[in-house]
Amino acid sequence: GAPADLAGRHVVISAGGTREPLDPVRFLGNRSSGRQGYALARTAAARGARVTLVAANSELPEPAGVDVLRVGTATQLRDAVRDAATDADAVVMAAAVADFRPAEYASGKIKKREGEEQAPITLRKNPDILAEISENRDNSRQIVVGFAAETDDALVNGRAKLARKGCDLLVVNEVGEHKTFGSDESEAVILDSDGTVTPVPFGPKEALADTLWDLVIRRFS
Ligand code: C5P
Repeated sequence: GAPADLAGRHVVISAGGTREPLDPVRFLGNRSSGRQGYALARTAAARGARVTLVAANSELPEPAGVDVLRVGTATQLRDAVRDAATDADAVVMAAAVADFRPAEYASGKIKKREGEEQAPITLRKNPDILAEISENRDNSRQIVVGFAAETDDALVNGRAKLARKGCDLLVVNEVGEHKTFGSDESEAVILDSDGTVTPVPFGPKEALADTLWDLVIRRFS
């Protein structure tokens, strides 16, 4: 079986993709399936951690032995992650969080208007949850991990993002039309703020998850 090298640790993982409602029947969303976050939850539980999984709109079966909190929007995800993070040893933001939400929610279905080609929709920026968690940790030993999907210059953009977000580790996935989203496999590099680069070869998301936990554990000691 797996080593119990996360025993006594509490890890918080966000997974899935947020949906920002426009009106009672529509939302702005993304194609994240939640597979990577769920793989992180399963592997952490197998290694002995207490796991809180904040799941945004994922249809995957709930992993056994994991506390699952279900959320819809970025605001709900932020509240749930913040709450759970207070006593967490590690926070891993694997969820795809909408960068913007409709500035206003229409309580009735938004209608097309005669002669208007432009939709009557304005967007507002959502808070950057990863940056907030990184900045506001009162436990300086808490490890914070982000994910980044990059379509080009993965390493250069990843380095800049790691610095901007203030997290300890960043998993950079190179994405394209047929890569990563909705798939059981992925390829990545994991950047550590100490400069270490760990390539993760193409393979199951469980393998990437285990490599990430190895790096988190290395950070604990
Ligand atoms: O900036 P970008 O969206 O590429 O960053 C991705 C990382 O930041 C992911 O870990 C994601 O969960 C997190 N994120 C966040 N809040 C946002 C947008 C992204 O925590 N509003």
